[in-house]
Amino acid sequence: MINLTINNKSISLDVDDDMPLLYVIRDELSLTGTKFGCGAGQCGACTVHLDGQAIRSCVTPISAVSNKHITTIEGLSERGDHKIQIAWQQHKVPQCGYCQSGQMMSAASLLAQNPSPSDEEINNHMQGNICRCGTYKRIKQAIHTAAN
Ligand code: FES
Repeated sequence: MINLTINNKSISLDVDDDMPLLYVIRDELSLTGTKFGCGAGQCGACTVHLDGQAIRSCVTPISAVSNKHITTIEGLSERGDHKIQIAWQQHKVPQCGYCQSGQMMSAASLLAQNPSPSDEEINNHMQGNICRCGTYKRIKQAIHTAAN
């Protein structure tokens, strides 16, 4: 049995120790805002927070987050009103949208650590989050807006 807190709710799960956190989130808990992209830690679509830090849930076994706090896009705010989510709407960031919850989770962790990041700091932090639609410019603008 694995115990953890997800989106401020304590849960116990009877799953294999090596099941990826992403599969638990999507398949066991039906929190489908977190996406499967590459499954190999390369794209960032599956980004969630582990005790406030952005991690790749596809390459994180569930046993590694035992007794920890996980936040998914569904738990980032009560009503979709985290400053990152508001800025994403203002700048109409998404195109196809598939990568965007991972983008927002990475961006939210950046602002939690660094409330006013430079362009370079944004580039460094966000470089692991791939967007095939090329929304990078709007992502950067939205992060700056959220930072103000
Ligand atoms: Fe996890 Fe691509 S799905 S990094």
